[in-house]
Amino acid sequence: MRWWDIAPVLELEHGLFPEDAWSPGMFWSELAHARGPRATRRYVVAESAGKIVGYAGLAAAGDLGDVQTIAVAPGRWGTGLGSRLLADLLRHATAFECDEVFLEVRVDNTRAQKLYERFGFEPVGFRRGYYQPGNVDALVMRLHLRPHTHGNTEGMLSDG
Ligand SMILES: CC(C)(COP(=O)(O)OP(=O)(O)OC[C@H]1O[C@@H](n2cnc3c(N)ncnc32)[C@H](O)[C@@H]1OP(=O)(O)O)[C@@H](O)C(=O)NCCC(=O)NCCS
Repeated sequence: MRWWDIAPVLELEHGLFPEDAWSPGMFWSELAHARGPRATRRYVVAESAGKIVGYAGLAAAGDLGDVQTIAVAPGRWGTGLGSRLLADLLRHATAFECDEVFLEVRVDNTRAQKLYERFGFEPVGFRRGYYQPGNVDALVMRLHLRPHTHGNTEGMLSDG
């Protein structure tokens, strides 16, 4: 996702999250951390015939990753696009050397919860009234990524 994608992304955002859509400033601020050698964010869009039909973002802080957002245009639901976006974020979580990835999802959003479960996310708790102004609780889910090895431990083991 680049800054020129923000306007079309916001159109989708307002349709999909009418109660708690992100502001343009939130996207700008996230994208400010998405490039360069010290990047801590991965933001991606899916395009079809030049039109944005999905987007997703991940933030990394130390060894923790957080799925910040993921959305697919309603006409494209059920085509595997959500899965592809999530797979991209998780690949980048590994590249950021995250050990765990967390996310919050509305307790009533079973479709998204099922997607996350398929990727191995497990419920770990609730945040009461997380989504305002509707006062809807968030389910917090966590995925353990495969621990990354520092250095060539395989070589050390085979050397005895
Ligand atoms: C949640 C969301 C991102 C999922 O996106 P999606 O593109 O529908 O996701 P997928 O297609 O990968 O998977 C969803 C379903 O489609 C099915 N599916 C995947 N590929 C498929 C294919 N090729 N053909 C038919 N069905 C398919 C999956 O099995 C899954 O089925 P399920 O409902 O039984 O779990 C999307 O519904 C969305 O944008 N929702 C609104 C925003 C939102 O709630 N975001 C999450 C906030 S936490």
